[in-house]
Amino acid sequence: MSMQEQIASLKVDIAAQIAAADSLAALEDVRVATLGKKGSVSGLMKGLGGMSPDERKVMGPALNGLKVQVSDDIAARKSVLETAELEARLSQERVDVSLPVMEHASGSIHPNSQVMDEIAEIFANLGFDVAEGPDIESDFHNFTALNIPEEHPARQDHDTFYLKPDENGERKVLRTHTSPVQIRTMMSKEPPIRIIAPGRTYRSDSDATHTPMFHQVEGLVIDKDTHLGHLKGTLEAFLKAFFEVDAVTLRLRPSYFPFTEPSMEVDVQCSFDGGTVKIGDGNDWLEILGSGMVNPRVLVHCNLDPNVYQGFAFGCGIDRLAMLKYGMNDLRAFFDSDLRWLRHYGFRALDLPTLAGGLST
Ligand code: PHE
Repeated sequence: MSMQEQIASLKVDIAAQIAAADSLAALEDVRVATLGKKGSVSGLMKGLGGMSPDERKVMGPALNGLKVQVSDDIAARKSVLETAELEARLSQERVDVSLPVMEHASGSIHPNSQVMDEIAEIFANLGFDVAEGPDIESDFHNFTALNIPEEHPARQDHDTFYLKPDENGERKVLRTHTSPVQIRTMMSKEPPIRIIAPGRTYRSDSDATHTPMFHQVEGLVIDKDTHLGHLKGTLEAFLKAFFEVDAVTLRLRPSYFPFTEPSMEVDVQCSFDGGTVKIGDGNDWLEILGSGMVNPRVLVHCNLDPNVYQGFAFGCGIDRLAMLKYGMNDLRAFFDSDLRWLRHYGFRALDLPTLAGGLST
């Protein structure tokens, strides 16, 4: 039998073996027996080295054709077998969606996630969307557009983590607050705007109440006649629902943020009797968030006409809210991944907070 004939008969032979392979394992056996290191096709390929140049000119392409044909056939058969295998599995496996949830499931929800869910639920009921932005932020979104230009002293207060400059010399930052999401939202959406933006924030700071990574939630409302009264009413509704009390008393203290004018620090009335904080009434005040009317200069940066639009913004530490509501005293424990802490403070995995059902029950 000439080499040509040998190749032709091998072609027929192997095609039949591939067609007959009725499982992925059987197909793999065919592959090893033909294209594997010691396979029949590989064996013939090895023979090429001992051929005369003229012979090789003819046999090279012929053998290569065989090899390509075999590997194409195997790939085609493989996909047929895989589809068949998947279909067989799908027709056998079933999920009983009426089964009760496993009560002993051991995962739990981190207090921070729980608080974020609670906040989203409260604000959803007030008609707010949830917006997001990147953790690695441009200087423009984190500072400049928020009326904190390069030389502004407020930059120093932020203990910013800077990234290495890129090829254009631009230094990105780990966002120091969630306020850049205000900018992203105003630049991409027409008012009326009503959003909250929960997420991670970063500052180079670490003690019992500060960690280099922490969480904030931003609130932003922009419309034609949104005013301070709306801000106060919104915050009252939020804090009342969040702390699950019948009433809260707020104190708005004049403050300063470059991106709001006027700016207010908001305190909530509380008592520290018996060593624990009780929010709602009492003789003490607890500073809880920063807020104000969006500075017209910020609106201009976002191409909104300050003669038409106005609104309010607020920013609040989520971890701090969690500590106050659920009685933790060291923020660092939040991020230690200590299972004992997580089991103690964690929330049941499948309970989503709802206003109707009770936020934290
Ligand atoms: N971004 C401010 C901070 O991190 C908080 C804030 C947000 C204040 C929005 C006013 C309005 O400290």
